[in-house]
Amino acid sequence: MYAERVLSGMRPTGSLHLGHYHGVLQNWVKLQHDYPCLFFVADWHALTTQYDSPQGIEQASMDMLVDWLAAGVDPKQATLFIQSKVPEHAELHLLLSMMTPLGWLERVPTYKDQQEKLANKDLSTYGFLGYPLLMSADILIYRADKVPVGEDQIPHVEFTRELARRFNHMYGREPGFEEKALQAVKNLGGKKARFFEEMRVRFQQNGDREAVEQAKAMLAELPHLSLADRERLLGHLEGTGKMILVEPGYLLTEASKMPGLDGQKMSKSYNNTITLRESEESVAKKIKSMPTDPARMRRTDPGDPAKCPVWQLHLVYSDDACKEWVQQGCKSAGIGCIECKQPVIAGILKEQAPMRERAQVYLDNPALVKDIVADGCEKAREYARETMRDVRASMGLEYR
Ligand code: TRP
Ligand code: SF4
Repeated sequence: MYAERVLSGMRPTGSLHLGHYHGVLQNWVKLQHDYPCLFFVADWHALTTQYDSPQGIEQASMDMLVDWLAAGVDPKQATLFIQSKVPEHAELHLLLSMMTPLGWLERVPTYKDQQEKLANKDLSTYGFLGYPLLMSADILIYRADKVPVGEDQIPHVEFTRELARRFNHMYGREPGFEEKALQAVKNLGGKKARFFEEMRVRFQQNGDREAVEQAKAMLAELPHLSLADRERLLGHLEGTGKMILVEPGYLLTEASKMPGLDGQKMSKSYNNTITLRESEESVAKKIKSMPTDPARMRRTDPGDPAKCPVWQLHLVYSDDACKEWVQQGCKSAGIGCIECKQPVIAGILKEQAPMRERAQVYLDNPALVKDIVADGCEKAREYARETMRDVRASMGLEYR
């Protein structure tokens, strides 16, 4: 019914690193060719944990946008915007909060986890508790059906699905919904009507999703069915009423295989990162000072790549011939570690070259970034306003 739409957000955490590139950003760059995509800076989300020091958020947001553009996110293909510039997110968050059971929020796994992890911060705030709900509003306001997220965010998308269902159930019933839905079934005609009812009962009594799919497939083949009747039928089928908010699905983003400089996962908190636009000198310096297999105390000691974090980087950057050269050379002490690190440095610099070039255009002319965001916000607001009209109307706030 609604166009397939991808939506994802990222908190502004300052300069992005190669771990972000090999995980999230490469995925976004790929998705933008296949779907209409909306990508946004989740600056309000940053405030849920950083409410005591908001000063850096604006700069971090702009830096992050430049990083996205550097990585190849293309503003001609994807819509880029900043959450706080689309205040409709806040309105939806508020309206959803009226019908969100407190227990649902308290049970979201990240709630207690993050509070424990960030124990030095007082996260017993209203905003922090409501953070998954804000994320739901972000998603539902665009009726996005595809949300690329990492594994840790899946519970939030599931939460969003449940909320959409609850919302549609509660507010998706126009006056006389039952009668209108039954009439719409009747209008399908004898055989189709019987099939539809059979599938509906199968789903509502046994939870048979396959029956829902079959009924939907049948409806999809009826070009003359009016939009209103189609919605009534879908609501009747799943017992949700009219679908005002769309239950989103997620696209699991594979965890980045990019290791950090110490062989752990690359992460700002481990202080083992290379940023997207790190200078060439700094990249070389960081790689040259990476630890290697501790068994190779001297140049003449043989080593084992399996015990060396540099090898992990060869797995990302080197071709088979080079990897063979490392294996042979390391185990036989035929090459030194400095030599072994050269192709890795070259690989990273080669990857970064187009990013640096793209970023330079925006660094020379920051107004370009502002324009891209202004356009993106305008486009995003158009979608958001449309959803809010339906949401307000269904909650009795139309005031026409
Ligand atoms: N919560 C996400 C994170 O911390 C960021 C985010 C906010 C998001 N709103 C979203 C992701 C909507 C996807 C969709 O990573
Ligand atoms: Fe690591 Fe390469 Fe040195 Fe072997 S030769 S220990 S793989 S850096």
